[in-house]
Amino acid sequence: MVMNEKEIAERITKKIDGFLAIDEGKFLFECAKNCKGKGVIVEIGSWKGKSTIWLGKGSKAGKKVKIYAIDPHTGSPEHKKKHSSVWTFDEFKQNIKNAKIDDIILPIVKTSEAAAKTFKKPVEFIFIDGAHEYEMVKLDYDLWFPKLIDGGIIAFHDTVHWKGPKKLMREIMSSRYFKNIGFVHSLCYAEKTKQNSLKDRLRNKIILLKKDIYEVCSNLYLPGSIRKIGKKVFWK
Ligand SMILES: C[S@@+](CC[C@H](N)C(=O)[O-])C[C@H]1O[C@@H](n2cnc3c(N)ncnc32)[C@H](O)[C@@H]1O
Repeated sequence: MVMNEKEIAERITKKIDGFLAIDEGKFLFECAKNCKGKGVIVEIGSWKGKSTIWLGKGSKAGKKVKIYAIDPHTGSPEHKKKHSSVWTFDEFKQNIKNAKIDDIILPIVKTSEAAAKTFKKPVEFIFIDGAHEYEMVKLDYDLWFPKLIDGGIIAFHDTVHWKGPKKLMREIMSSRYFKNIGFVHSLCYAEKTKQNSLKDRLRNKIILLKKDIYEVCSNLYLPGSIRKIGKKVFWK
């Protein structure tokens, strides 16, 4: 049986240490695939390449838009607590090479703050999954949002159980700059717009309400069949 790029991405990423659910990976794949090439793709926080591979395979299935994978590769505070020193770049590089996407992945081994200083390209899709403290994720947003083109997509990981991304996402998604908000598991995304309409804002509010309900339900024990229905109802 011949596998398509998405199935290959799923098979490869299952074996890679990381923090991304399969449905979140599939979302990244689709977003990268849909990029038109009006800007590049940026990932903040790559770890060992799990999310990068979903992005890379998606991009290859689409217009082969380049992906800038930004990470100092020295881990976040939660990783540093567990290990005295962290260095993920060698494993990241090997995983990217094994996945045969090294031709479109451009690693930047720096913090997002340092990378933002010299990064001049327009961005069509940005996935933010770096340090999760509120001040840090807000800094990522403040530095990179201006580089995102109108109509571009911004996505944050860990917006359900991590206070930093959750709080920031709540604050910014109520602003006039976003429409077509959605979420897949802990990943929340939106399209950048110059000025959203009343209809956009109403829709955004409904999705945020759905997310509240989803968050409560995700803390409850629910049978698999109910969870499956819940995902269909809540994820957009
Ligand atoms: C949760 S992990 C990323 C997981 C990855 N997206 C995946 O799918 O497995 C967070 C990563 O953010 C990186 N990081 C921490 N602070 C950062 C910063 N200021 N800028 C960019 N990356 C940062 C860490 O080195 C770590 O690899």
